[in-house]
Amino acid sequence: MIVLGIETSCDETAASVIEAKNKKKKILSNILYSQFKEHKDYGGVVPEIAFREHLKLIDKIILRALKKAKKEFKEIDVIASTGGPGLHGGLLIGTTIAKAISLSIDKPFMPINHLEGHILSPRIEYDLSFPYLVLLVTGGHTMLVIAHTIGKYEILGMTLDDALGEAFDKTAKLLNIGFPGGPQIEKLAKKGSPSIELPQPLIHSNDCNFSFSGLKTSVLRIVNSKKNKSNKFKSDICCSFQYTILNIIKKKCELGLQIFKKKYPNKKKKIIVVGGVASNNFLRKNLEKFAITNNSNLFIPAKNLCTDNAAMIAWVAVEKFRKNKQNNFNFQPLPNWLI
Ligand code: KG4
Ligand code: ZN
Repeated sequence: MIVLGIETSCDETAASVIEAKNKKKKILSNILYSQFKEHKDYGGVVPEIAFREHLKLIDKIILRALKKAKKEFKEIDVIASTGGPGLHGGLLIGTTIAKAISLSIDKPFMPINHLEGHILSPRIEYDLSFPYLVLLVTGGHTMLVIAHTIGKYEILGMTLDDALGEAFDKTAKLLNIGFPGGPQIEKLAKKGSPSIELPQPLIHSNDCNFSFSGLKTSVLRIVNSKKNKSNKFKSDICCSFQYTILNIIKKKCELGLQIFKKKYPNKKKKIIVVGGVASNNFLRKNLEKFAITNNSNLFIPAKNLCTDNAAMIAWVAVEKFRKNKQNNFNFQPLPNWLI
């Protein structure tokens, strides 16, 4: 089975070809254009700019993905595209071009939920069976989920305000250190020490919900009150911010694992961390230690599969098409589609 996947839900224009045969799976191509240059002056993604960039690039990206995979349109079995959640303009471009291809080669079109793309993404690289606990941390979403099986996801908790990636981006913006914020904060944090005390919202709430807007406001207050915003100060803020995030995440994952164990007392505890924030080395290293302490197995995708990509979209189509061979041609984009 050969699947062409397309991702245009935010600021990445991406296409990928995956080949899957029984247990064998291979990413034949995974092409991506990241629009960070176009958005960096605004410190965040501007929907209209993202829309225009997708429109300009999507056909070329798809052709490159096919060329790299050494496949022709007629060899594709399924065309998948992100159907939501995401920015409406981008979703429209991806789904419209996917439908046009589907019509012209007479092969099924499958709209894919972007969050499900992240949730199933470790199954491309790892022999990872259900059930497992998911910490999903992206620029638009933050949630703890139990993935019971394909298509059956139980949300244990989510953010009540900002997503974690958004908190990284907004904090970087107020420190004036660049966009996207995650990688910049990670870089500066390496030179700093966790010497600045920051609040840990909802850490004692005894549920799996998150809140990050107070943390960001607290950083803002500290930054505004500091006259000399030296590089050392910025590094210390970034380092303290990452340690605070780590503490919050660990506490919530601990609760998540307890719920997991109650539901599955005889199963090995498994936890995956997915989404753009999961590409952060500091978090990856420390969550490994956390998993060992909590007697659980941790799976984090390779960095290029943590941030947005089309391989994870193609992969969901592989998994779902195997179960149910459907063509969803009448689908319309769902910007607020939850899992
Ligand atoms: O999953 P993703 O690529 O797109 C969404 O689905 O939103 O996540 C993007 C988010 C951005 O907010 C970005 O700042 C964050 O992931 N991110 C990081 C790192 N790399 C990307 N956050 C922390 N550390 C990183 N190294
Ligand atoms: Zn994403």
